Amino acid sequence: MSKTVLTGIKPTGTLHIGNYFGAMKPAIETAGEHSYFFIADYHALTTTQNAKEMAEQVKHIACAWLACGLHHGTAAFYRQSDVPEIFELTTILNNVTAKGHMDRAHAYKDAKAKGKDVNMGLYNYPILMAADILAFDTDIVPVGKDQQQHVEIASDIAKSFNAIFGNTLKIPQFAIKKDIGTIPGLDGQKMSKSYNNVIPLFGTEQELKKAVMRITTDSTVPTIETHRDHAIYHIYRIVTGAELRTVTGWGDAKLQLLDVLETYLKDMREKYNKYMNEEWYIAEQILTAGAEKARKKAREVLQRVRKAIGVS
Ligand code: ADP
Ligand code: TRP
Repeated sequence: MSKTVLTGIKPTGTLHIGNYFGAMKPAIETAGEHSYFFIADYHALTTTQNAKEMAEQVKHIACAWLACGLHHGTAAFYRQSDVPEIFELTTILNNVTAKGHMDRAHAYKDAKAKGKDVNMGLYNYPILMAADILAFDTDIVPVGKDQQQHVEIASDIAKSFNAIFGNTLKIPQFAIKKDIGTIPGLDGQKMSKSYNNVIPLFGTEQELKKAVMRITTDSTVPTIETHRDHAIYHIYRIVTGAELRTVTGWGDAKLQLLDVLETYLKDMREKYNKYMNEEWYIAEQILTAGAEKARKKAREVLQRVRKAIGVS
């Protein structure tokens, strides 16, 4: 049987083309026969504590993934909050997780070192994430490097559970996503929502134009030989798979980039807007069906777990 692949997406921030080419496109391409993609809304609750903002973020992310081509026919695509079995499993796993283990988790340690207020949601974040993974007999969890420790903790928790209650939970493994490199932003630094240097994934043509025109250039005449790593050349290469060869100057280079971006993004933007507006009910149906599919599997695992601990 093919391996079960699962990954969660935290609904925070407006998506840019760095997120798409760096994370979404590769994830969609790796999804196989048994895959679970979910919106980790209860993980976002550690920081997003406003109902309107939460609802908007979840809607944005759901419509974005569907517009980008997530195969919701094969993969289960769902909201974490729609699968109560995950939270039951979290409660159970709390009891086989050592406090010292949580003290050593990066996200908590970083927040503490920066003197931030730490709520129990943040402190217990890795246990909820372990439940996300273990509730589906997951084999492989594709993540970015920053999430490797969380998946290792999930494996450790599964091993602790099995050591106490007998072999019940499948031990998951992380798979570090193939690095497609860092996509530069308008100023040449890493494109990031925190740096105000992004090309929005679903911006209007006008917004795309405004962003591209803001890309920092110098006073020379650009060529592929001298400016291979410049944001314009780099982004052009990522979008088209080819080099930007002949340009008459920076203005022309920007127009050529704008042209290929608009061509690439147009259909996705239309789909996105459709899901966000008149077809939101379809997106909701997909999420509801995804949750049903996910719950079917999670119920089966939970039944096994309840039996193992003696409460079935
Ligand atoms: P941001 O830096 O805008 O806050 P996130 O940290 O939310 O983005 O990143 C979400 C995902 O998108 C991560 O998996 C990350 O690897 C990917 N990503 C973000 N920015 C880039 C970029 N400039 N180039 C490549 N991948 C990126
Ligand atoms: N913690 C992950 C992040 O911040 C999101 C996430 C939640 C996740 N649960 C998961 C990822 C389970 C993989 C598997 O990006």
